[in-house]
Amino acid sequence: MNKLPIPEMIRRAFSALPFAYAPYSHFKVGAALLTEDGEVYTGCNIENAAFGPGNCAERTAIFKAVSEGKRDFLAICIVNENRDGGHDFCPPCGVCRQVMAEFCDPETFQIILAKSPEYYKIYTLAELFPEGFGPGYLKNE
Ligand code: THU
Repeated sequence: MNKLPIPEMIRRAFSALPFAYAPYSHFKVGAALLTEDGEVYTGCNIENAAFGPGNCAERTAIFKAVSEGKRDFLAICIVNENRDGGHDFCPPCGVCRQVMAEFCDPETFQIILAKSPEYYKIYTLAELFPEGFGPGYLKNE
């Protein structure tokens, strides 16, 4: 796949927002992860009364995909909705960047931050996670 289906990914990321469980932060996040074989896995953030066990939308999508046998990913789209119903760019947290680095090629994996179908920016994982510690460092273990 040489051209990303960006409108479809943004639409799918927004489609996950209503499922976000964010009663503490009131900050909903939706993600849509594109696999190399053209499938899209969505995810939302899932908070917890104990705070620590909460999960981000990106990791929800990645873990859903990995748990169904997918490990090759091309791109992820991330959207959010704040407590006022507004949408802003939502860059992935450090833990999610680390999880992306486990499965994705930092030089080619695309991270799409979208505010709307028309208004988005795209980064590679390497741009958002330079000098990241990835599986390559443990190759000889
Ligand atoms: N969150 C995500 O789901 N993804 C991000 O990229 C940033 C933060 C969630 C975690 C928490 O449920 C809420 O947003 C506020 O931090």
